[in-house]
Amino acid sequence: MYVFRRHIARKDNIIQMIRTLLVAGTRPNFIKIAPLYRAFDQHPDLNPILVHTGQHYDAVMSDVFFRQLQMPEPDIFLSSGSGSHAEQTARMMKELEPVLLDIKPDVVVVVGDVNSTLAATITAKKLHIPVAHVEAGLRSMDRRMPEEINRLVTDAISDFLFVTETAALDHLHREGHSDDHIFFCGNVMIDSLRRFEGEARAVNQKKEYGLAAGEYVLVTAHRPEMVDQPELLKIFMSSLFEIAEFSPIVFPMHPRTRLRIRDAGLEEQMLSTANMYVVEPLGYFEFLSLITDAALVLTDSGGVQEETTVLGVPCATIRDNTERPCTVESGTNELIPLDPEKIVDAARRAVSGSWKKGTLPELWDGKAAERVANALAGAMKAL
Ligand code: UD1
Ligand code: UDP
Repeated sequence: MYVFRRHIARKDNIIQMIRTLLVAGTRPNFIKIAPLYRAFDQHPDLNPILVHTGQHYDAVMSDVFFRQLQMPEPDIFLSSGSGSHAEQTARMMKELEPVLLDIKPDVVVVVGDVNSTLAATITAKKLHIPVAHVEAGLRSMDRRMPEEINRLVTDAISDFLFVTETAALDHLHREGHSDDHIFFCGNVMIDSLRRFEGEARAVNQKKEYGLAAGEYVLVTAHRPEMVDQPELLKIFMSSLFEIAEFSPIVFPMHPRTRLRIRDAGLEEQMLSTANMYVVEPLGYFEFLSLITDAALVLTDSGGVQEETTVLGVPCATIRDNTERPCTVESGTNELIPLDPEKIVDAARRAVSGSWKKGTLPELWDGKAAERVANALAGAMKAL
């Protein structure tokens, strides 16, 4: 059962305020929700209430972000935990429904494309509560990705769509959405980056591994399309073993990947490869610090494609598509297929300093959450 502890009497005009229930459940959600929570809290018309679904629960996947991003403890904790898509999503919906019935928020705000996003959207809409989706309209056009299903369903039934890049506007228009409920506000993930960039640089995480700036490749991987398929995971890991022959690698490993590496029988080789630092998932400051000083970031993450573009750091995304095309078109991101020759070539190019330079996408300026708060308050008043 949940506990709803705060916010009842924090602001004088609480009765007239818009009760705004923010839902977050995974590592990237926390990084996106933090600036929104802050902007809503500072807005005269919005009263934020924070729900943690429990999708990510390890301290290194959750608590550290609340601490570093200076977020209050969630008002409500659900205990959805891990499981199959259906199990996990259903548990979240079942636990969230009584919370929504009790709190009766005026609007539910969801971010990103994870199962927590989908579960909260469906549950709220079935109770006739308006939903605002922050990071709407992104499309990989690959419906085998669970995130693509979450994006399509969430956008189809949300009332307010907050967009990070122009390609998303085109997708939403094509899917029949009209401009009266679409708001191009920029990227809240970049708000967190801009706010905490100084703290991250001060950490100097590379020193932990005795490395210098520009001499290592930073790796993340957790997409089930790759890591859940032993044959594909082996191809990826063999590319890394080859890169480690000419460049140090730092690989903060997602718990899903850790399990799959073990299952695929790759752990021993990985741990005995010289020049390869495989570590637990890192805190936000520690990870940003490593991005800043990397020669290349090799990843399948969504958010990391955006952060490398803003920091001007070379990024090779090991995927056939991206839902974030501006990072390729104007940023430092390059899509690289899962082919050892091409992956190793990307690493050689980056280490030798020959990688394209990028420019900043429109409105990725650290002020997106403020724009979302203003637009949401205006739209809710107009309802
Ligand atoms: C989820 C999101 C993905 C996002 C990623 C961010 C969905 C469908 N996927 O993927 O879009 O990019 O989060 O990191 O919502 N586990 C732990 N400890 C934890 C959390 C997970 O050990 O705190 C392990 C469990 O074995 C679990 C597995 O990781 O089964 C996968 O977790 P899950 O939340 O289902 O998906 P992610 O791969 O994290
Ligand atoms: N991140 C982190 N520690 C890590 C790996 C990633 O703090 O060890 C941060 C990263 O800076 C980015 C976010 O987590 O802000 C991306 O999350 P993830 O790759 O798990 O999810 P995705 O963006 O692919 O949904």
